Amino acid sequence: MWGGRFSEKPADLMQAINVSIGFDRRLAGQDLAGSRAHAAMLRKQGIISSEDAEAILTGLDAIEGEMTAGAFPFREEYEDIHMNVEARLAELIGPTAGRLHTARSRNDQVALDFRLWVREACDRSVGQLKALQRALLAKAEAHADTLMPGFTHLQSAQPVTFGHHLMAYVEMFGRDASRFADARERMNESPLGAAALAGSSFPIDRHFTAAELGFHEPMGNSLDAVSARDFALEALSAASIASTHLSRLAEEIVIWMTPQFGFIKLSDAFTTGSSIMPQKKNPDAAELIRAKVGRVFGALTSLTIVMKGLPLAYGKDMQEDKVPAFEAFDALELSVLAMAGMVSDLEPNKEKMAAAAGAGYSTATDLADWLVRTLGIPFREAHHVTGAAVKRAEELGVDLPALALSELQSLEPRITLDVYSVLTPAASAASRMSYGGTAPAQVRAQIARWKEML
Ligand code: ARG
Repeated sequence: MWGGRFSEKPADLMQAINVSIGFDRRLAGQDLAGSRAHAAMLRKQGIISSEDAEAILTGLDAIEGEMTAGAFPFREEYEDIHMNVEARLAELIGPTAGRLHTARSRNDQVALDFRLWVREACDRSVGQLKALQRALLAKAEAHADTLMPGFTHLQSAQPVTFGHHLMAYVEMFGRDASRFADARERMNESPLGAAALAGSSFPIDRHFTAAELGFHEPMGNSLDAVSARDFALEALSAASIASTHLSRLAEEIVIWMTPQFGFIKLSDAFTTGSSIMPQKKNPDAAELIRAKVGRVFGALTSLTIVMKGLPLAYGKDMQEDKVPAFEAFDALELSVLAMAGMVSDLEPNKEKMAAAAGAGYSTATDLADWLVRTLGIPFREAHHVTGAAVKRAEELGVDLPALALSELQSLEPRITLDVYSVLTPAASAASRMSYGGTAPAQVRAQIARWKEML
């Protein structure tokens, strides 16, 4: 491509460090789309003739055919996807191929291809996160009344419903999807036409190519257009946060699956066995999802450091932007899909969950609330009386609902039999009717709201 200025071939090591076709071939589709838009614009503006444009577009179609058939020759000597396409075009249509690069540089070309790829990755992620939300919604609806312990500090706190717990993740993944949508909105400006860095002396129409490629408008500064990778950083930030949420749910699945908790079962489809311990059913998918956040966050860190301190405009450093983004989205997408599969697959053990929901004096707050509501005692004092009741129950080795009325009355003589109506986990959960609370009626209202939105 630059034989005019060069008389010798690059050293093997130069070639080895410089070549990117091994990974940027993933941008082939975006590269063809960009070239088509550019060729159509060159024709419209009279910068190339209609016949040349026609030949170029036909050649690009042929290349796409070769790629679909797996017959396209990706060659290391042409370094990257851009030069591979151009070289192949020249083989197919002859010297006319050389007109395609008029008013264009690989700098705006790669900025465009990568931006298109990240935009698509964001769109895919939104779709997959929504599918995961639907899987969670279906499971939450089936278990809007299924009791389980709610935890703080992973200690029994107050009874909640399994549906309520799952809906918390619907909220998180909803925000993750909206982060990708926001990032997409901001990145949706076209760098094409920035050329090498300074723009073009040809009468190009950047608004036309922007519209052709589904962008709102062209980027306003050609230096920025070829240098900016914050769109990828933003997408990777969104991916990192989403992975964090996935890892939290994955961790809960791992905990719930232990025989000691025994809250859920996963089918054979989402577990693996042990080569030595015949009794094992391991939640490997959950563990791997829990771990993938490392790759995703690693990608964000990696690209942040590549970009840090880079002077304007393009630097070859930026070729190192792609692998992290590919890896991160591969990991994220697989994680979201596997999580949706696991969520649909898992079945709670209602008896075990309900028993655990009542353990650990989980309705102590309900006793305190009863004292406040019925006897008009200030909450701080009610908290103290209830603490004493828990202590007494612990001494006697019974749960709170099994503590005799006489025991309770020795702590507060005005307590009546009515108090027992609030001490079961079911009554406790059903009483939390505040907006967003765990009462099954509230959980159903949130499920209905999300069904509407999805
Ligand atoms: N393969 C390069 C990259 O991924 C394309 C742009 C190269 N531009 C240049 N002036 N060498 O960044």
